[in-house]
Amino acid sequence: AAADSDAFVFFGATGDLAHKKIFPALYSMVKAGTLSVPVIGVASSQWGLPQFSDHVRDSVTSSGEVTRDDEDLDRLLSLLGYVDGDYSEPSTFAALKEALGSAKRPAHYLAIPPSLFTTVIEGLRDAGLNRDARVIVEKPFGRDLDSARQLNRVIRSAFEESAIFRIDHYLGKEEIMNLLYFRFANSFLEPIWNRDHVSSVQITLAETFGVQGRGAFYETAGCLRDVVENHMFQIVALLAMEPPAYQGYQAVQDEKVKVFRAMQPLGVDDIVRGQFTGYRDEAGVAPHSDVETFCALRLSINSWRWAGVPWYLRSGKCLPSGAAEVVVELKPPPQPLFSDSAPARGRANYFRFRLSPNPEIAIAARVKRAGEEFVGDQRELTLFNGQPGEEQPYQRLLGDALAGEGALYTREDSIEAAWAVVEPVLEHHHRALPYAPGTWGPEQAEALIAGDGRWHNPDAD
Ligand code: BG6
Repeated sequence: AAADSDAFVFFGATGDLAHKKIFPALYSMVKAGTLSVPVIGVASSQWGLPQFSDHVRDSVTSSGEVTRDDEDLDRLLSLLGYVDGDYSEPSTFAALKEALGSAKRPAHYLAIPPSLFTTVIEGLRDAGLNRDARVIVEKPFGRDLDSARQLNRVIRSAFEESAIFRIDHYLGKEEIMNLLYFRFANSFLEPIWNRDHVSSVQITLAETFGVQGRGAFYETAGCLRDVVENHMFQIVALLAMEPPAYQGYQAVQDEKVKVFRAMQPLGVDDIVRGQFTGYRDEAGVAPHSDVETFCALRLSINSWRWAGVPWYLRSGKCLPSGAAEVVVELKPPPQPLFSDSAPARGRANYFRFRLSPNPEIAIAARVKRAGEEFVGDQRELTLFNGQPGEEQPYQRLLGDALAGEGALYTREDSIEAAWAVVEPVLEHHHRALPYAPGTWGPEQAEALIAGDGRWHNPDAD
């Protein structure tokens, strides 16, 4: 196996993601004994090491990971180094080289705006800092097919594919890994997991909050780019893929890319975009912005397994509950034998995968009500009802990358194939429809699914 990285270099270390998720993850790694190499922040914020250390301390304490200073936090702080400078200046990379000292196999983590990717990769390459190094790339991975391809080209000019780790933090979540496990560790699913028995699949990723000060970033993204094309498509891929043909993670990657390739590129009528009222008042948002904070779409996977089965995906900010859930609905019995077994709302058998906040796997079926009449109720059998995973996704993912373990990362071909699916609707063909915060988005989202039922609205608990 490849050697572990001996330093963690963090571009964009003064940013929002760093504060919210990365330092708490690094802290957990120190605590778990999986991080003991130097952590060198790089940014162009005109900071020094003391300010950076304070920032890290604040991030860790405000994440609730630790209530006051403790030994592990001190240990993390003692690993820190900081380099400030313009990413386009060779002197920044010279200073980084010096800060790396005797470290010879750094892992460079890039949590920076896409507009800076090329500059940083070229800076690393020109300074020879790509040698024996790994690169961990944060989303957004391009903003369309062309830019993703170009980004891949740039990264490949400096790093081998096996040294590139493209993050989709959903892949580091226990609940998402469980989708893969549940599908292929059981035998009862396979006979029904296809177009003969499944009538539709729904995935909802709902958030109660808005853009939380990330308005300027969000303006460059919108819901489709921010969470659908990456996080939600990864969920689809795990649910839709064929069984891996051999052991090892490349087999899973190979099957996932086939799903993306089998997805039919979206058409204008397959998507409903929405924007919560009040979005345009957020800092960094254009007064007439047409960026969507909600989207719902209908996806087709043209494979032998899934042809004809609609996949409905929906995500949004400021929705009534903060939950992520998958519902796989099965077809009704071939003949309605009982007065209440004609196909109707709420009667279909289904599988329900609650991904967050409280993970759950349940199967719903109809059971007869006691009494003379042959009528029944829909009952759920809960197979699993757990607590959110202890380990945060970034802890797992960054640890894997430092160890050169690529199973939970996305591959170049998948990324490009996924962009190709959304490419036709990246241009706005219809304006984003307004919706009131605290509702399930514009009503047109209901119309989108009406031919196949209705949305299952996950409640918050
Ligand atoms: C991020 C998006 O990738 O995922 C955010 O940029 C979104 O807008 C977040 O809120 C959701 O991730 P999680 O792990 O909180 O479900």
